Amino acid sequence: MSHHPPEPFRIKMVEQIHLINNTGRKQALESAGFNLFKLRSEDIFIDLLTDSGTGAMSQDQWSALMHGDESYAGARSYFRLDQAVTDIFGFRYFIPTHQGRAAEHILSLLLVKQGQYVPSNMHFDTTDANIRARGAHPTNLVIDEAYDPSNRHPFKGNLDIEKLEQLILEKGVDNIPLGMLTITNNAGGGQPVSLENIRKVSQTYHKYGIPFFIDACRFAENSYFIKLREPGYSQKSTIEIAREIFALADGATMSAKKDALVNIGGFLAMNDENLYKQSCNELILREGFPTYGGLAGRDLDAIATGLREGLNEDYLDYRLGQTAYLAERLLESGIPVIEPPGGHAVYIDAGQFLSHLPPSQFPGQALSAELYLEGGIRSVEIGSVMFAFPDPQTGEMIHPQMELVRLAIPRRVYTQSHLDYVVTTLQKIAKRKDSVPGYRITYAPELLRHFTANFEPLVSN
Ligand code: F0G
Repeated sequence: MSHHPPEPFRIKMVEQIHLINNTGRKQALESAGFNLFKLRSEDIFIDLLTDSGTGAMSQDQWSALMHGDESYAGARSYFRLDQAVTDIFGFRYFIPTHQGRAAEHILSLLLVKQGQYVPSNMHFDTTDANIRARGAHPTNLVIDEAYDPSNRHPFKGNLDIEKLEQLILEKGVDNIPLGMLTITNNAGGGQPVSLENIRKVSQTYHKYGIPFFIDACRFAENSYFIKLREPGYSQKSTIEIAREIFALADGATMSAKKDALVNIGGFLAMNDENLYKQSCNELILREGFPTYGGLAGRDLDAIATGLREGLNEDYLDYRLGQTAYLAERLLESGIPVIEPPGGHAVYIDAGQFLSHLPPSQFPGQALSAELYLEGGIRSVEIGSVMFAFPDPQTGEMIHPQMELVRLAIPRRVYTQSHLDYVVTTLQKIAKRKDSVPGYRITYAPELLRHFTANFEPLVSN
């Protein structure tokens, strides 16, 4: 049995939530075009759409907000953030951005050219789309174990070094402007990457002179997994592990909405002075002056405080324990989830759970809709709606290898009884799963279609 410590905090402020009735949920989903992104949050009971920007800030973060220095340039808040970022990540330069994708945008704009390849273990949706938007190819090279949901490999986010060598040889170094690594691997189940693998990835990129950038959103969870699972790290603190990780890279993109425990913010960090100077120019053009980057001074203070809290080991012990608790209860109920559980979310194998639905009928979308209809729970599809794309030659749809539904757990927000309610709701759906209908898309834009697409059930239920 794993370890599920109680919440290492008590609740000082509450936000009311309410379960609207069955008819209300049906109407709400229909008028949202069956796209859960388009629901009003007041119509949702438990919101597991994302762990991004949805966490609860601590009393220390709320008080840090009051120290926000709103000067346009050279604010004290910026220097406090600089201290935290430098202490943990250790890169020579960084610029704040309004969130992670703004950092990805600047990096792609400056480095990536049409027809090039950007390898990673797996790119998440906005990184994937920012690379595609440059006419380039995001290339996922995660180890094969990642595609087997019941394989309990401790570091299922690892990048396959052989596949990387092969890509570099096949496409040529000149066609690979940078290499990335997502920690933890969100698109593949929130799975960690080992330090041993990060070291090999770094050596391989550097052997060919390819700059190495880490997508660092969930670096604290990844560091704690290393402490728990990797031989030789149990006595190191998570901050020491984080420093060891980032010392291997040339830079990082960060969405502070995850492990920095804030509602908005991010940054782009790097060692290269020239890239920093160019990034500042792009930042000024689109986001803001380099000492605020599109954020308020108070946001910078909240991030500085949150970055340190996100590394607190009592918090991380509870955080990973909570995810493991939900995964174990679902497995006990016969609901297939990616094993072992990841850091920030539990991923249901919707392809297997709703095996009567082929990928073209979007089993993940179908299960997400059902979770809302049954229990007012919002989740997110991570499968063919998010990642299928037409083959450039034949126009035929290429489907991702897994059809998943992610139950992302906001940080410090829901208690164990909320998670028990999620389990009960899924148990009810399991009893009638063979009658869950598939879906078809009635509208979708070309890039990032999951955010705004409309759907229709194939059989009315
Ligand atoms: N990289 C990863 C691995 C992410 O999970 C996200 C966001 C981003 C980059 C982009 O950051 O949202 O601040 O622009 N993931 C959220 C999610 C949206 O629900 O997983 P952002």
